[in-house]
Amino acid sequence: MTETEPVAFPQDRTCPYQPPTAYDPLRAARPLTRVALFDGRPAWLVTGHALARNLLADPRLSTDRTHPDFPAPTARFAAVRNRRTALLGVDDPEHRTQRRMMIPSFTLKRATELRPRIQRIVDERLDAMIAQGPPAELVTSFALPVPSMVICALLGVPYADHHFFEGQSRRLLRGPTAADTQDARDQLEAYFHELIDSKQKEPGDGILDELVQLSDGTPSREELISLAVILLVAGHETTANMISLGTYTLLQHPERLTELRADPALLPTAVEELLRLLSIADGLLRRATEDIEVDGTTIREGDGVLFSTSVINRDETVYADPDALDWHRSARHHVAFGFGIHQCLGQNLARAELEIALHALFDRLPELRLAAPAAEIPFKPGDTVQGMLELPVTW
Ligand code: HEM
Repeated sequence: MTETEPVAFPQDRTCPYQPPTAYDPLRAARPLTRVALFDGRPAWLVTGHALARNLLADPRLSTDRTHPDFPAPTARFAAVRNRRTALLGVDDPEHRTQRRMMIPSFTLKRATELRPRIQRIVDERLDAMIAQGPPAELVTSFALPVPSMVICALLGVPYADHHFFEGQSRRLLRGPTAADTQDARDQLEAYFHELIDSKQKEPGDGILDELVQLSDGTPSREELISLAVILLVAGHETTANMISLGTYTLLQHPERLTELRADPALLPTAVEELLRLLSIADGLLRRATEDIEVDGTTIREGDGVLFSTSVINRDETVYADPDALDWHRSARHHVAFGFGIHQCLGQNLARAELEIALHALFDRLPELRLAAPAAEIPFKPGDTVQGMLELPVTW
């Protein structure tokens, strides 16, 4: 524990696949340190791997964002904090009810059954990109449409509306102003109200259609809308960022790429290692509902508790040479998908998408390379899910 001047959190990365260099003091101060949020409010930042897994499983930490003491990492997060967020924003027992409702649609078995469908989507996007290029901008031509099409098919959302919902998701997660975030959320909710009305009249084939048809009144209309928003947004933005940043990272590590090409059986462990190293969801948020003792330090009731996944996933007591990309380590137990009751619902789906997308991309395009100097390619700021803003490639 340290008593030094708190580091501001979050901060921008200097290299898109490394934690911000400004977090170096945090890495030195494991497992728990003080940080300052954008509004000057102090909060705890968990940086040690063992402590992170203990605390993420601790029911004394709440994810209820509507509580006035809930920590806000940005002004735009603070602007929509009063809205109820399904799953990620509710505690047990409400969380358990919602999660149980969703689990059958996101099992490993379901993700495995979806693989041929994901493969078809990936192949079609690559065919289209190859027909038009080289060069190509990989985010818009591949990294974003693949998970977007997959989650649409799964939920029963028309992909024809993708310009609308991708744009609103972008504004929701990193709109320039708090008003943007609020308006994006309003627009997504209005969109789903209409879509659900139409599904009530004429049910189709998707998770939302199944939920609409449940006869026992659960979920309520409000809950259903909130579930739809989180599934759609979490279901495409995150995976899209992993595909774009994963591709960039592989192209910056040619020797690892050669190794992977020579032995595609390494793919599942490679995806796990990329998830660990890139830690794209870097800053999980909680509020202490009681005093919690941690090795002689007291986290007080009402304190904000944040988790830097990028720092936790590079804890050298768990991962030797943690900054290196290594297909032969076991990256299992990383917290890139979180841990505890809120651990990512879509992780089986995300793994399947990443394996299929990265394998097909490098298999079909053995000469794939960046079409601009690496240092000039823009990536996302530190206050949102990490990934590439653009990825110009050629082959
Ligand atoms: C590689 C891609 C992904 C990453 C890195 C990722 C990361 C995460 C993380 C870190 C959490 C926990 C947040 C917390 O504890 O505060 C989470 C939760 C969640 N994720 Fe993902 N995610 C990914 C893909 C997906 C996909 C494809 C879906 C599809 C539906 C999804 C849906 C969700 C949902 C619904 C939750 C909330 C679960 C709950 O509270 O019970 N995610 N994700």
